[in-house]
Amino acid sequence: MRTYLVTGGAGFIGSNYIHYMLDKYGDTIRIINVDALTYAGNLENLADIEHLPNYQFIKADITDREAISRIFAENDIDRVVHFAAETHVDRSIKDPEVFVRTNVLGTAVMLNCARGAWEQPDGSYPKDKRFLHVSTDEVYGSLPDDGGYFYETTPYAPHSPYSASKASSDMLVKSYVDTYHFPANITNCSNNYGPYQFPEKLIPLIINNALSGRKLPVYGDGKNVRDWLYVMDHAKAIDMVQEQGRIGETYNVGGHNEKQNIEIIHIILDVLKEKLPDDDPRKAQIGEQLITYVADRKGHDRRYAIAPDKIRAEIGWEPETMFEEGIRKTIEWYFDHEDWMKNVTSGDYQNYYKEMYTE
Ligand code: NAD
Ligand code: TYD
Repeated sequence: MRTYLVTGGAGFIGSNYIHYMLDKYGDTIRIINVDALTYAGNLENLADIEHLPNYQFIKADITDREAISRIFAENDIDRVVHFAAETHVDRSIKDPEVFVRTNVLGTAVMLNCARGAWEQPDGSYPKDKRFLHVSTDEVYGSLPDDGGYFYETTPYAPHSPYSASKASSDMLVKSYVDTYHFPANITNCSNNYGPYQFPEKLIPLIINNALSGRKLPVYGDGKNVRDWLYVMDHAKAIDMVQEQGRIGETYNVGGHNEKQNIEIIHIILDVLKEKLPDDDPRKAQIGEQLITYVADRKGHDRRYAIAPDKIRAEIGWEPETMFEEGIRKTIEWYFDHEDWMKNVTSGDYQNYYKEMYTE
């Protein structure tokens, strides 16, 4: 039975990935989920699978070398899938240090502990050991409105403390490949959306605000472009790269689904209006009058767009969920999980929102 060590599995993509893997492989794999449960980590995301005998949760911080090395010593780990990170650009602008700590130091600890557990006396590694570092297209910087794509060969040019810390962590992974022939891959994926995404990110924030009759904050001119991918397509890509990718290689993951932020907001408003029954009082309050242009994000990247040619050619991965379908599924999920939203927006979220959007 293959054993996976998943870091950050209580977050948005990590929890979707764990669901994807348990659906696909059932009890033929074992998953150990290591997560520090920061504001972004939520065990409610995994409530339906927590009873499974082949799933185990361990609360630990990835910068805690002792805790992580103990996990490697006590378990024969075959696959590491490293999601754990601080992930929100706006928070990184306010407080960069925690991004460096978790994203850079945490990745160094993960790499070191995996290498310590896996490296053989002659410097080689057993064939079935693989480390996948989950990264972002933001490391490549920003593209102009009028064209171009990010390729695996595009030079790194991060702008925010978040993307700079992810770029640094990618460089560390590459250095382990070059120096120790460490069996790692990196995926650089575009913006994800789907169930369980924390409402600090654009799509769930707009859904939640619209349903609560709150203003919809649009940074700058609203024409910044992101390349949106449904989260389960990302989960599938991660699994395919880990099983079929060439060791040491980086694969860009994206959907050729570029949209301006303002377009996304209009689509969400349209779907919400269509889905809410006529007698729901929220229906009348949802509309364009909620859209509010606010000060731009500092250093706001203009456009991201991934060229997924390499992963398609080498591995056969393609995005499967069209945006129109994915956004509907996502909105339906948020409709069906109002309690989830209530729980994650109580407490600290209110302070974050006030500080970020009203002060
Ligand atoms: P998220 O913020 O929803 O979840 C992050 C998880 O990591 C949380 O469960 C949190 O508790 C955990 N964590 C944070 N610090 C930790 C620490 N020190 N030790 C252990 N656990 C810790 O993030 P996400 O959106 O699911 O992103 C997951 C990964 O995918 C990140 O590495 C991110 O850079 C990358 N990524 C995200 C996107 C996106 O659109 N969300 C796109 C491409 C790549
Ligand atoms: P976000 O979801 O934070 O992802 P990222 O910055 O990592 O791409 O933001 C997506 C886009 O939406 C980005 O251009 C910033 C913009 N945005 C807003 O206009 N208003 C908001 O309240 C938020 C959170 C984001």
